Amino acid sequence: MTAPGRRKPAHVLANAPFRRLWTAMSVCSLGDWLNILALTALAGNLTQGDYRTQSLAIGGVFIAKMLPAILLGPLAGAFADRFDRRITMVAADIARFAVVLSIVFAGTYQWLIVATVLVECVNLFWVPAKDATVPNLVPKEQLESANRLNLLVTYGTAPIAALLFAVLSVVGDVLRNLAPALADTDTTSLALVVNACAYLVSAVLIFTLRGIPKRDVAVSSPSVLKQIVEGWRFVGANRLVRGLIIGMLGAFAAGGAVIGVAKVYVEALGGGDAAYGVVFGAVFVGMALGMFFGLRLLSGLSRRRLFGLSIVVAGLVLVAISLVHNLVIVVMLTVLLGACAGIAWIIGYTLIGLEVEDSMRGRTFSFLQSTARVTLLLVVAVANPLAALFGVHGFEFGGLSYRFDGSNLVLLIGGVLATIVGLLAFRHMDDRQGVALSDDLVAALRGERYAPGVEEQVPGLFIAFEGGEGSGKTTQSRLIAIWLRDQGFDVVQTREPGSTKVGMRLRAILLDAAERGLSARSEALLYAADRAEHVEKVIRPALGRGAIVVTDRYVDSSLAYQGAGRALDPGDVAKVNAWATGGLVPHLTVLIDTPPEIGLTRLGGAADRIESEPLEFHEAVRKEFRALAAAGPERYLVVDGTLEPGEITRSIQDRVREILPDPVPQESEDVTGTMPAIRD
Ligand code: TYD
Repeated sequence: MTAPGRRKPAHVLANAPFRRLWTAMSVCSLGDWLNILALTALAGNLTQGDYRTQSLAIGGVFIAKMLPAILLGPLAGAFADRFDRRITMVAADIARFAVVLSIVFAGTYQWLIVATVLVECVNLFWVPAKDATVPNLVPKEQLESANRLNLLVTYGTAPIAALLFAVLSVVGDVLRNLAPALADTDTTSLALVVNACAYLVSAVLIFTLRGIPKRDVAVSSPSVLKQIVEGWRFVGANRLVRGLIIGMLGAFAAGGAVIGVAKVYVEALGGGDAAYGVVFGAVFVGMALGMFFGLRLLSGLSRRRLFGLSIVVAGLVLVAISLVHNLVIVVMLTVLLGACAGIAWIIGYTLIGLEVEDSMRGRTFSFLQSTARVTLLLVVAVANPLAALFGVHGFEFGGLSYRFDGSNLVLLIGGVLATIVGLLAFRHMDDRQGVALSDDLVAALRGERYAPGVEEQVPGLFIAFEGGEGSGKTTQSRLIAIWLRDQGFDVVQTREPGSTKVGMRLRAILLDAAERGLSARSEALLYAADRAEHVEKVIRPALGRGAIVVTDRYVDSSLAYQGAGRALDPGDVAKVNAWATGGLVPHLTVLIDTPPEIGLTRLGGAADRIESEPLEFHEAVRKEFRALAAAGPERYLVVDGTLEPGEITRSIQDRVREILPDPVPQESEDVTGTMPAIRD
């Protein structure tokens, strides 16, 4: 939350509880990478066979790492939603400490594999508990930065672990020379001890962490199995989450195709181990670039659109990689591929954190984790046999020869698959239907957000207030209008429905409690008709002369009430409204977010047609408002409606001040005088 008078929120790491969790996470990631290095090395040492046996032994470690997620993933997610997340994490850390240490003492390959499976089982509980906790510690607007930092330590610790591993091997030598009693201390044991200690450090850090809300372990809470089924049903039923999961799985499948055949493909291009290393590094460099610069460069673009788009681009890039036969170009394309993956991953994680309610979040993350691993494992497993089956093919066109091998084919299939999946995700999640993607993109690259008709042609400023019943938005929008007028701005304060002559008659129909038989579609169309009239007669003319328009409700109300509340297809409602308004989008939408059980009690008098809807209706409305705001954070301000009114006003003023033009004193105008009394 921004302190009044301060424009920029503090860095997310200034948040002490998050910093602590993040430190624990970094230590664990470092430990995890060290663990992979040590175990693969140890597996090779313990099985001392020929090249084939050793490869198989190392492969066994990877399988042991993957298997638990596939078998137990869903169970662990339900655990994260059901039990105290802090205790879950601490217990998991202590268990990991003990098991990793036991590998050192047992010293057999069999135990190594068993222990690896055990550690992975425990990870399954730790990771969703951690993922689901982050949104509890970090304010919404910083969730994206938090996820970026998390991803950074997840992968950024890999090179550090490699370095540490090298250092440990030197330390091991020194120890052996100093104390002959330690003659059989080898690098792998040392690395495992360090790894175990990392988990212990994490346990202490998390144990002392305050601020993770306790889970309700109510006696009546459903069984774990029921929770899992509920979680899956939730993923299937929620359009946005479904789009996200489809997209992320598609990205994983494409990634699996790359991992599966990368080595063979690089060899076919004439590169050796070093080139393979470079291609691998390129993916990570690209991911970092995408996460840090790509998102900033395209900050004006709707996050939901960017998600699908980045997967489509990743797919097309992969297709190009499969067709081009030049190592340098392939490396450059791989950077781009990584960037797209980085962008999609961060957005996916952030949207799940923002939009999936607390009680479902652990299961959603673990659903993603386990299905992602299954996909990855399947694709990696199928990729090589498929490539081998297809074999090596050469084509001759005139004097030119072109090679198309099995690895090309696998990459091509992966690319096409990712493109299709990206398109699907885009269609599922598009929140700006009716606005051409190309317009959006051009505007985003210029650092703006495309709002047809608003920026260039009309000089004014358009601010909308949205929120559920009794949220206080009417009061707040009036206060802001007064405040702006006091500064000498030409302000038009207006509202929907009913700010025009026709609109007033539509309003009467719409809110009449007797009009209950109204079909959902005609309701949506009537609101859209009122809005079309409002835009043409009131809003556009005012903006055209450079005024600031403050409206109480706009398109988002229809998306929330008719799109989510009435369960019409949100895409249809968006299209009708884009058409009705000629695509006019507010520069800023202030969402006053108030739980309906509080808002509804604030209403006085007889309930109108909409107010008398059941609580679930109002909850669906609130959820949609929040989702809309989450999808375009740069164009929204979300204020907690349960705060003190004065505090709410101040935070709105702070945000509005950022987008105000220089004040030019003009005569003010008020259209509220022509409207019936407003209740909020
Ligand atoms: P109103 O009395 O203006 O109340 P409020 O102060 O809550 O805005 O009533 C407007 C009602 O119309 C409100 O219940 C929300 C509903 N509504 C829609 O369902 N769709 C829309 O597009 C708009 C603008 C309003």
